[in-house]
Amino acid sequence: MGKIRNHPRYYNVFVSGSLQNPQLYTKNLTVGNQIYGEKLITENGIEYRTWNPHQSKLAAILINNPETHLLRKGLKCLYLGAASGTTVSHLSDILINGIIYSVEFAERSMRQFIQNTSERENIIPILGDARYPVEFAKSVFTNIDLLYQDVAQPNQAEIALKNSQYYLSDDGILILLIKSQSIDSVKKSKKVYSQEKRILKEGGLEIVETINIHNYASNHLALIAKKI
Ligand SMILES: C[S@@+](CC[C@H](N)C(=O)[O-])C[C@H]1O[C@@H](n2cnc3c(N)ncnc32)[C@H](O)[C@@H]1O
Repeated sequence: MGKIRNHPRYYNVFVSGSLQNPQLYTKNLTVGNQIYGEKLITENGIEYRTWNPHQSKLAAILINNPETHLLRKGLKCLYLGAASGTTVSHLSDILINGIIYSVEFAERSMRQFIQNTSERENIIPILGDARYPVEFAKSVFTNIDLLYQDVAQPNQAEIALKNSQYYLSDDGILILLIKSQSIDSVKKSKKVYSQEKRILKEGGLEIVETINIHNYASNHLALIAKKI
């Protein structure tokens, strides 16, 4: 794959190979620890964790080279659907001086999440339900620059909208993963995607990019949106 180097476009993300067919990495914040069986590679005294787009949809999004500036130093992120921490752990590597409020409603996943991420000081685990943003408000004590949502729920756009209205700062960014089959298993994906986009637009969000990640996660589309 060649030498590991800074990704030319994404803050604190690393890459080897060509940008058309890249292998992504993040610098391991907790050296020696793996979270989900990812490979650890040391080059020039720095330990990197391979970031697999088949296991993390954020990696799949970045491989598609979005134009929006998604990551920067000190970013405050609200992450809905944290599961056991695969993607959150990479965000934690990237946003060393930031914070990632990580919401998950399944107790078992949250237990695993806490085991996996307890040494990472920039993560705040929240056992909560993304459908009811007000209920976990006391655990989120800063403005949110990046709202990331990956909860396989039937009303994904509506949940994203509620959380954007409640938490997202005026110049913040929403990344919404839409799984068409969580919404309707019979309707065609295209119809589901346009229905979800309409909900966001009617709620006052502008969709700035639509990224198809079917190659890595079947029936998933990523929307990047901002407040108007
Ligand atoms: C596809 S997994 C997320 C994977 C994770 N984003 C990653 O890349 O590491 C979806 C997660 O959302 C959680 N979830 C579903 N509905 C939720 C809700 N209403 N509130 C919080 N979490 C929810 C599920 O329990 C599951 O762990």
